[in-house]
Amino acid sequence: MNAQTPRWPLPQRDYWSTPFAESLLQHLDISPGLRILDVASGHGIPAFYLAEQVGPTGQVLAVDVSARQIARARAIQGPHLPCLRFECMDMRFLPPDLPTFDRITGNLSVMFFRPDRFQAVQGLVKHLVPEGQLVLTFPSHGTFDSLWQHVDQMMIQRGHIHERERFQTYLNERPSAKEAKSWLERLDLERTDVTEYPLEVATGPGREFLYHPLLRGGFLDDVYECFEDQDQAEEFMTAISDDIQRFTPLIAQRCVLSGWRKS
Ligand SMILES: C[S@@+](CC[C@H](N)C(=O)[O-])C[C@H]1O[C@@H](n2cnc3c(N)ncnc32)[C@H](O)[C@@H]1O
Repeated sequence: MNAQTPRWPLPQRDYWSTPFAESLLQHLDISPGLRILDVASGHGIPAFYLAEQVGPTGQVLAVDVSARQIARARAIQGPHLPCLRFECMDMRFLPPDLPTFDRITGNLSVMFFRPDRFQAVQGLVKHLVPEGQLVLTFPSHGTFDSLWQHVDQMMIQRGHIHERERFQTYLNERPSAKEAKSWLERLDLERTDVTEYPLEVATGPGREFLYHPLLRGGFLDDVYECFEDQDQAEEFMTAISDDIQRFTPLIAQRCVLSGWRKS
């Protein structure tokens, strides 16, 4: 690892991608000259950091399905870090002629491996060299459980039977650390490791909770979608938001899965 202060550090004011990327980096074996594929790269967390670490003799290909994210990443990059390239690609359908890589990373990626998560991980491993390492992160099953238990209780109390069925389906669909372990075993990777690190997400009551940029964008919307009547959803969620002491602190689980392809 580069011992000097990085010129492309992980953004310190980011309270979600950066803590996940920090846990990814705890498991990633990185050194100058490596070729890395970073999937679900977004606007470059942790691709910029990785590119600086592998240096001019290495390569980082960062791929994201969203053209907007790729354009944003390229704008941030400008003329810097020539060993880093951002391309618009679907990580579930990588071109078969794509070269192999020494490392494959994906921060906050696994939840997008739909519809078949195992198949998506298997597809990535095909692009790993023998003795190459795969490291992915995602918020795993226990994430915000105190909130989901409260939502469930409230749905029971208020007789939202169909909404609760949809909610249970949503909860059961979330990827778990246990599932991640089974993928690594089925793929016959070695030195496998699946570790969860807790992360507290701070929120206040009322609108601060309901319009929290992280919660509203990625989690609360899933509860709203359980309701056919959006006015009823609004009323339900407002009652939840007035009572945050029942489910705070809100704890996410940062799950890191890592494995090495056999030689
Ligand atoms: C939560 S963001 C994570 C971005 C970045 N790695 C970070 O840590 O900030 C997930 C990213 O996955 C991308 N994504 C979703 N489905 C994808 C797919 N099938 N192939 C490639 N990227 C995908 C989204 O466009 C989004 O930029």
